[in-house]
Amino acid sequence: MDTTRNITNRPAEGARQAGATILFSLKNEVGGLVKALRTFQEKHVNLVHIESRKSRRRNSDFEIFVDCDSDHHQLRELTQLLAQHANVVEITSQSHSGSDAAAAAAATAVQAADEEWGVPWFPKKISDLDLCNQVLMYGSDLDADHPGFKDNVYRKRRNYFIDLARSYKHGDPIPRADYTPEEVQTWARVFRELNKLYPSHACKEFLTNLPLLAKHCHYKEDNIPQLEDVSRFLKERSGFSIRPVSGYLSPRDFLAGLAFRVFHCTQYVRHSSDPFYTPEPDTCHELLGHVPLLAEPGFAQFSQEIGLASLGADDDAVRKLATCYFFTVEFGLCKQDGKLRAYGAGLLSSVGELKHALSGEAKTLPFEPRVACDEVCVITAFQNVYFVADTFDGAKNKMRDFAKGVRRPFSLRYNAYTQSVDVLKDSGSIRTLVEDLRHELHIVEDALNRLSAAAAV
Ligand SMILES: [Fe+2]
Repeated sequence: MDTTRNITNRPAEGARQAGATILFSLKNEVGGLVKALRTFQEKHVNLVHIESRKSRRRNSDFEIFVDCDSDHHQLRELTQLLAQHANVVEITSQSHSGSDAAAAAAATAVQAADEEWGVPWFPKKISDLDLCNQVLMYGSDLDADHPGFKDNVYRKRRNYFIDLARSYKHGDPIPRADYTPEEVQTWARVFRELNKLYPSHACKEFLTNLPLLAKHCHYKEDNIPQLEDVSRFLKERSGFSIRPVSGYLSPRDFLAGLAFRVFHCTQYVRHSSDPFYTPEPDTCHELLGHVPLLAEPGFAQFSQEIGLASLGADDDAVRKLATCYFFTVEFGLCKQDGKLRAYGAGLLSSVGELKHALSGEAKTLPFEPRVACDEVCVITAFQNVYFVADTFDGAKNKMRDFAKGVRRPFSLRYNAYTQSVDVLKDSGSIRTLVEDLRHELHIVEDALNRLSAAAAV
């Protein structure tokens, strides 16, 4: 049965300068399609072709395929607005002019193959992260159980940081925040109490990097470090950089950032009424919990590999990878010198849970992705169980094995030169990779020869 319905307004070939295809499914609300299509009108985006298709994905019977004229900037704003009324499944930017024709044709072929497999859209280059900004919680409004729900001054402040994050584009410097005395006081209380625990509770890598952050990024009790300074520091240490974000991102978008060694960071401070509790990530959590470990190359590699495994994966695989991320990067423990130590950011930014996890009372299990991926993630209380990794390398190898089970018709390789992912799905792309590896091996061989020659003198 033909389930496709078409409406086409396609101009003569060659008339379009830039365009995009967007695939989305409708949310379960009255007038959903009208609301979704109105966003194109509001952003002055011309629809060239629209059709409904039977979905090849789970949880949705039909999807809407739209071909439109849109430049990169328009597309970013459009998808933000569209996400309010629809679940955006895929976005593909296209160029239809001159020398880009071959590339567009190749991209179309890749897209057709991806559709055959039901591969969700994923960013191929670092600037595509501008399109990955689906904030799930507290992004534009606070829930009634949030400590700042009834505080209009706090809500106004949150909106200021939301605007900063939403207008950020790849390549921009992160705007410097002028923190209020109240915010600095909140940071100071968290900083002071956690620093008492770190020597006996944090892993070695954390303790090595924290003094470096004090030196290079002004980590001090009376100063909240600026994300731009931290991003520059991380870039030099491990290749990671930071993007500001307005709240909880969807797991798919968050993990996609990691694939490009980009860490999405909140810039606002938790509510001052309880400095030792926050129902959502805030800049104290990011700066104290995550950043010291992101400066560690082995940990950075581990984080990136979880991100790469998520690109183009189906919803169930993304859920499992996000759960593994939760029980490692957020709540992971490790064994060092025969003692249990914390490396998870959720622990290293929480006085209460850091004490609890290492108290000897908490349940622990050896880190095993196949077990961790189905564990329940607790948000507003302590975890039921913590997973213990022997080393980051060991955890990375286990995650690599686990990632092999992700259903995908291709492999991916991160290209650090172009900050993009190479999709390895044909002999040409694999041959290019082999050439690169040959070049790397040549360097190794040359280094060994020089070492032998030096030893012989
Ligand atoms: Fe976190």
